[in-house]
Amino acid sequence: MKKPLIDMKNIRKTYANGSLEVEVLKGISLTIDQGEFVSIIGSSGSGKSTLMNIIGCLDTCSLGEYLLDSKDINSYTEKELAIVRNEKIGFIFQKFNLLAKLNCYENVELPLIYRCMETQERRERVLKSLEMVGLSDRLKHRPSEMSGGQQQRVAIARALACAPPLILADEPTGNLDSKSSNEIMNILIDLNRKGVTLVLITHDNDIAELAHRIIRISDGEITSSIDCKRGM
Ligand SMILES: Nc1ncnc2c1ncn2[C@@H]1O[C@H](COP(=O)(O)OP(=O)(O)OP(=O)(O)O)[C@@H](O)[C@H]1O
Ligand SMILES: [Mg+2]
Repeated sequence: MKKPLIDMKNIRKTYANGSLEVEVLKGISLTIDQGEFVSIIGSSGSGKSTLMNIIGCLDTCSLGEYLLDSKDINSYTEKELAIVRNEKIGFIFQKFNLLAKLNCYENVELPLIYRCMETQERRERVLKSLEMVGLSDRLKHRPSEMSGGQQQRVAIARALACAPPLILADEPTGNLDSKSSNEIMNILIDLNRKGVTLVLITHDNDIAELAHRIIRISDGEITSSIDCKRGM
């Protein structure tokens, strides 16, 4: 039976811009089931990343209700939110967000250190995650010594190492050529087939159509939610 992982009702987000209040999300209601792959599309500035940051507990809404895995996220303290992010959510961003001074292995290891995981298990997880993304031969490379596609695969391995039930990807292929984009999407689709819920923001219609469902956001509102044949 389908079970919602993300359940949002009437989410609003307002930013104060000097004395001016700007409403960026204008009452978003959205349910995403466990195991679903949903693409979010919409023009620049429409509120996609703002919504994604709220889904990912990196930011909070101004108004509305957000249940993640049936837990009321709005009632959580900053410390509790940090634990939710570490345990439940893997983030992948357009700019990779790797730490430049750490090598490939150490970047993937970092969230596991935050988890206080013991050395042996940490090592096993890091090596397994890097194997999954085909980077077992790049353990000592720093981000500056890797291609964009490889850096994004490190970011995916870092997300994977924590075995999160939810992966949020904000334009993960935005800085990549088409070959690397395909590699990244194949990895993400494979993870989704293994049961990981995937929410992906993209400007690329071909990539959006790989999902089970495409949600369009215009000016802070969901204007359509369309099931995709190809993603079924
Ligand atoms: N911290 C902030 N303070 C004030 N306004 C913000 C802040 N973050 C975002 N905004 C505004 O919210 C609106 C939506 O931004 P958001 O980053 O969600 O857009 P987006 O759909 O992800 O766009 P893009 O496709 O360009 O990434 C924009 O008009 C932006 O200026
Ligand atoms: Mg954005």
